[in-house]
Amino acid sequence: MSDCRICGGPVQEFFDFGPQPVSDVFPKPADIGTEHFYRLAVGFCERCTMVQQFEEVSRERMFPADYPYRSSGSALMRRHFEQAAAHYLATELSGPDPFYVEIGCNDGIMLSSVQAAGIRHLGVDPAEEAVKVAGASGSRVHVGFFEEATARRIRETDGPANLIFSANTISHIAYIDSVFAGVHALLAEGGIFVFEDRYLGDIIANTYFDQIYDEHFYLFSVRSVQAMAERFGFDLVDVEPLPVHGGTMRYTTARRGERQPTPAVARWLSKEQEQKLAERATYESFGAKIESNCEELKALLTRLRDEGARVVGYGATCKSATVTNYCGIGPDLVPFICDSTVEKQHRVTPGSHIPIRPPAAFSSPYPDYALLFAWNHAAEIMAKEQEFRAAGGKWILYVPDVHIV
Ligand code: SAH
Ligand code: TYD
Ligand code: ZN
Repeated sequence: MSDCRICGGPVQEFFDFGPQPVSDVFPKPADIGTEHFYRLAVGFCERCTMVQQFEEVSRERMFPADYPYRSSGSALMRRHFEQAAAHYLATELSGPDPFYVEIGCNDGIMLSSVQAAGIRHLGVDPAEEAVKVAGASGSRVHVGFFEEATARRIRETDGPANLIFSANTISHIAYIDSVFAGVHALLAEGGIFVFEDRYLGDIIANTYFDQIYDEHFYLFSVRSVQAMAERFGFDLVDVEPLPVHGGTMRYTTARRGERQPTPAVARWLSKEQEQKLAERATYESFGAKIESNCEELKALLTRLRDEGARVVGYGATCKSATVTNYCGIGPDLVPFICDSTVEKQHRVTPGSHIPIRPPAAFSSPYPDYALLFAWNHAAEIMAKEQEFRAAGGKWILYVPDVHIV
């Protein structure tokens, strides 16, 4: 039991993954053993229902200057953010001299479209090397963590923001009260704060247990985000499900009383009630499914190895840190993982120490099986790797259950 980071209520633990490494720090072979481990456990607040972790990894450890994640590595995600930008350019950013602020802009995947439209903008992100990529293509960026003090400084120099947008970042920020205080200080009257993050309902429905890792400090639902927004002086005025990262929800918030909620908010609240998202039994059966998926995956990989089959991993995701470390999967079962991110190549996975190689290693020669850690990019990757299938190769997936396709 501990106190909720949002409302101070009692948080009931429902799953403990034990010691886990920081998921997005890939050691060089010479640095094996220097990883930072912490206790990855999740619980839900009995008062506001927010699902959250108990131990916070420091933000400097999770998001150093050389943070290797690059948003633009996926064509699907590039398309997703182009569409998002087009929508906001036609709506919130269509008035006179609008100002756009993005929290967690990374390599500029969304910012670049706003910049191309000639709109005043600023991306805020501490991942200096990724941010440099955005800056090099002409976007205006600030290297640093968004929090109340940052927001106040931006307001002083640039004036109020009409749209503050953030994707796959707000759920990473344990000190979220400071983020909302910052948004309150920076947002123009009538402006909106929009954020999209992995959706708890999809995680539970599909046993996406690997979405639980250090960066996902909170797992948001419509109900918990509504409670959070209200606590910090905002209303949740719209929600929209999005088909990326295995199930994402876009939350639109506005200062209290400024906008009317759309019917989607009430519709999703009742859907969550039907799914029993605020009930202890739901989390107990989720925990049981995590255990059985892991046992089955480990048994399958062990059998394939014993039969002499070659298995290679595909996608050195953050998700793979939880899977490999919790299920006990190392280089003896998966000798290497291919990944297109140059910053991850020739390094090893945190904790499980599986070498990461460039995608070219996949085809020379093709393995018998590929374990797809980047299952959220399945369509894109399988289309790219058609020859693997043609050569008789098979994909192994471990969510919603362990299966071979
Ligand atoms: N928006 C991109 C990147 C998500 S990765 C996408 O959806 O693909 C999360 C990003 O948030 C990282 O680049 C990380 O450096 C950044 N981040 C973490 N804490 C932050 C904070 N307090 N303020 C701004 N950015 C932050
Ligand atoms: P992703 O699932 O987006 O994120 P997370 O780390 O949050 O779980 O990571 C996808 C990884 O897969 C990323 O390291 C890039 C890699 N990748 C490829 O190697 N090839 C591809 O075609 C795609 C789309 C991704
Ligand atoms: Zn709470």
